[in-house]
Amino acid sequence: MKKSIYIKQKINFFKKKKIFVSGDKSLSIRFILLSSLGRGKSVAYNILKSEDVLSAIECIKKLGVKINFKNEKCIVFGKGLNGYKFKKNLTLNAGNSGTTARLLIATLINSNQKIKIVGDKSLQKRDMYRVINPLKKFGAKFKSKNGKLPIEIEGLKNTRPIFYNENIGSAQCKSAVMIAGLKTSGKTKLRCLPSRNHTELMFKNVLKIPIKIHKKNKYDLIELDGLREFNSFNYKIPGDISSAAFFIILTLLSKKKSLTIKNVNINPSRTGIIKILNMMGASIRFLNKKIYKGEINADIFVKSKENLKAINLDPKINSSAIDEFLLIFLAASQCSGISTFRNLSELNKKESRRLDWGIKILNMIGIKTKKIKNDGIKIWGNPNLNLNKEYIIKNYLKDHRIFMVSTIAALVFGGKWKIYDPISFRTSFPSFLKILKTLGAKIS
Ligand code: S3P
Repeated sequence: MKKSIYIKQKINFFKKKKIFVSGDKSLSIRFILLSSLGRGKSVAYNILKSEDVLSAIECIKKLGVKINFKNEKCIVFGKGLNGYKFKKNLTLNAGNSGTTARLLIATLINSNQKIKIVGDKSLQKRDMYRVINPLKKFGAKFKSKNGKLPIEIEGLKNTRPIFYNENIGSAQCKSAVMIAGLKTSGKTKLRCLPSRNHTELMFKNVLKIPIKIHKKNKYDLIELDGLREFNSFNYKIPGDISSAAFFIILTLLSKKKSLTIKNVNINPSRTGIIKILNMMGASIRFLNKKIYKGEINADIFVKSKENLKAINLDPKINSSAIDEFLLIFLAASQCSGISTFRNLSELNKKESRRLDWGIKILNMIGIKTKKIKNDGIKIWGNPNLNLNKEYIIKNYLKDHRIFMVSTIAALVFGGKWKIYDPISFRTSFPSFLKILKTLGAKIS
């Protein structure tokens, strides 16, 4: 793979196009981890073949579980809740994947050996205390420096159920505690701020674990019974809305285009970007809605729109758009008026400091921003933005979303862009450039 790509012109005309995006990353990683704890042969179709998912697969294989992965079909031969083999001096590498690292640690809660978990440069900067602290309460022991990878876990055979107050709004933390609860006898209870609920839906509709979920106004109460063995299962993974989002913005912000993205997961805990863009005046629609194992999937129809309007976003929506804010900032840069976003501290805790990068990219293309208190940002929109200078995107810790958002900015706004580390998009969306090219993008 080359060191950088060049984009020197806006994307050409396309209309009434239909595309598929790759399988959902959150569901793909959950499939690998949960099926490895089931009994028998589980099959996933259309699983995402990206670096993050491959990292999850490699870790699980090292725990003695057989996995076959051919094309987009993945077969996992689970051996039950206590089926992992813990070799001496085992090291598991989660690569770039925060979800893999944080959920995997929970599956090791009963290990009878010390296991080391490592990750790449970006993952080594991310906070693991947020899962270490609750998992310690189950009885596992940890060693780490400042809560960062590499960490070492030593499990406990008979872990104790806990009550956990999840007050970040992190699905990774919630899911880690739920998985540890799955491996622990008794009732594990959680009080969680809203975040994506794929783990709850899988526990309930796929694994058929006894689980109670009460949705309150500001938080969810979850209670689950642990140590219940479950059978293997099949799962057809829908498209990832976080990948679809790049094409939604590309279509919305360029002129006279329309696009349908087929069979995407539109779980309401993930569709914040659609709500936000429609608040700005877009008219993005869901077609052919279907329910599958408790999840909602649909085709997404989007067309170009001028005269978007600035918004003042209620931070309650943040968690349902957490991976899409860089794209939302691009949309805000095209609105008439000043948009305001608040409580975005979590963005600087992702694969790179995304809030800082968002501001950097906007300022680079001449969009005025102002940081406001509580990790907020104001963005002065300029609907007439048209670029003709040179722009270089470099040293961003190979954060896949920074690479892809810069590519979309280049194709929408023009100018001459040199974007480094194209290898990064393989983390979450390996067909990204290929799909762009089928829509006529000129990328060299
Ligand atoms: C994910 C949860 C989110 C998201 C990440 C995937 C998941 O992280 O940013 O890309 O699959 O649970 P947090 O739960 O930490 O916000």
